[in-house]
Amino acid sequence: MNSEESLDLLSHTLVTWYRNHARDLPWRRTSSPYAILVSETMLQQTRVETVIPYYHRFLDAFPTPKALADADEQHVLKLWEGLGYYRRARNLQRAMQIIRDHHAGSIPEDIEAIRSLPGVGAYTAGAVMSIAFNRPYAAVDGNVLRVMARYLGIVDPVDQTPTKRAIEASVQSAIEHSEPRLFTQALMELGAMICVPRKPQCLVCPVASGCAAFASGQAAELPVKTPKKARRVVTVVALWIERNGELLVEQRAADGLLANMWQLPAIESTAPIAMEQTSEVLRLARARLNQYRTVDGGVDAGLPMSDEWAGEGGTMIHESPTDFVLMTSERHVFTHLEWNVIVVRPVGYHNLPIEDLPPNARMVPVEDLRSLVWPKVYSTILQRLARFETGN
Ligand code: ADE
Repeated sequence: MNSEESLDLLSHTLVTWYRNHARDLPWRRTSSPYAILVSETMLQQTRVETVIPYYHRFLDAFPTPKALADADEQHVLKLWEGLGYYRRARNLQRAMQIIRDHHAGSIPEDIEAIRSLPGVGAYTAGAVMSIAFNRPYAAVDGNVLRVMARYLGIVDPVDQTPTKRAIEASVQSAIEHSEPRLFTQALMELGAMICVPRKPQCLVCPVASGCAAFASGQAAELPVKTPKKARRVVTVVALWIERNGELLVEQRAADGLLANMWQLPAIESTAPIAMEQTSEVLRLARARLNQYRTVDGGVDAGLPMSDEWAGEGGTMIHESPTDFVLMTSERHVFTHLEWNVIVVRPVGYHNLPIEDLPPNARMVPVEDLRSLVWPKVYSTILQRLARFETGN
């Protein structure tokens, strides 16, 4: 089979298979470009089963581009809470503000206009153009790269630009001879159900007869990728400061990682520290706590600590002047970063200057914590330590 014939098989046989085998997913019941953009944004880096309830809740709350554009950012983040990669939510809202202000509130059938929206790359723009508008624009994400590297027998690393370009050109050529709305989703469906990363199901693949990797027995070895750099590991020492049923919490900065989300007062260290290295944990905890003392002009109103505290929440770390109870720890893996969050509770320090908290900090009644937006690692910690429940 020459390459033209094999792309032709992909254009036709794959779509026929998809018509008969497609999963019934909520975003496949709509041709609204807005709903499809929402689904594609959620589906980046996130599994279909995870996305489904979020997709419904999000579109119920923000049924139109204008509704999302006009929404309060904390409401948007709340409905995204637990999906991770929160920049996606913020970009989506900014994108809909552009749609509201410059496109009369509807996503235009215009690849350049869609591509220029914040957070929208070539993949997402191609997905909206092909799925919503049935226009022949390739949508190539990691799954499609895998499927095509196998199908075409490409042994060069797929994360490198020339390889990616070659694959995009093949997909573009195939979609031009197909039904774009179905073709894009058919390739994704094949990648999700048959041409899966570890154990491809070649024996039930509708296009195995045109697949170079199947012919050479290499399907499971492809695609080749350039090895990734190791993630940076950051230790986060977080303080649990609770008084009269209220917990001290802080809002993160308006830019950067997890922007505008809430957390416990914390201090970060890029030196990897095991939870057992108590002296380093203590040093960090004390440094962080001291930031509050300075607010109050250097109070040291701590009561002498007593051993009864140790019984409440964990192991007492015996050091003076301020002692801490180790409460819990939790790890979270981001794309390029790993957080090891260690939560400690200061004891013998009962006189926190609540009136003088910095503007991004608040004492919040424990029962109201769930109304704030928390990074996943903190909602896990709160569930454990404050019987906090999220909707997810
Ligand atoms: N992954 C990315 N986009 C998708 C879609 N539209 N359907 C299923 N999985 C996907």
